[in-house]
Amino acid sequence: MLRVILSIVLLLAGSAVCRAGDAGKGEDIAIEHCRRCHVIPGQNNMGIGISPSFKAMVQSPAQDWRHKFEIFYALRPHPSFVIIREFRTTPEFPLGITPVIIAVDDLDHLMAYVDQLAQELRK
Ligand code: HEC
Repeated sequence: MLRVILSIVLLLAGSAVCRAGDAGKGEDIAIEHCRRCHVIPGQNNMGIGISPSFKAMVQSPAQDWRHKFEIFYALRPHPSFVIIREFRTTPEFPLGITPVIIAVDDLDHLMAYVDQLAQELRK
């Protein structure tokens, strides 16, 4: 019985670890896909005019910045160029720009990255 409980606990712990996301991978994804428009800390890039920098977003006094990152692909302008592979979302408009194609797991990695950024920058 104890062995059964132990294996369930280990299983749950294992899946929690898998779901947690990897901040390093999240940073790579942000550099590869978000840097085109957003200023990413440590990247010395310019971003495009109206996209908020990641620093400004995670430091925002508004408490909803985290939620916005969780659903960024559904917030304009992203639906017209972000494709989540597993959701098979098709862009709303004919693409004039290179799409951002990411996986569902990448969303967890991105969240781990912005949480880490927030911890570093909100001190
Ligand atoms: C082609 C340009 C472009 C790319 C690539 C891009 N974004 Fe954005 N993003 C924007 C613009 C422009 C805005 C500002 C929209 C506004 O203020 O209405 C924005 C806003 C946001 C916001 C705030 C949304 C809101 O409504 O306040 C988040 C969060 C965000 N982007 C996350 C990301 C992430 C994560 C990636 C990479 C996976 C990414 N973006 C890639 C252009 C881009």
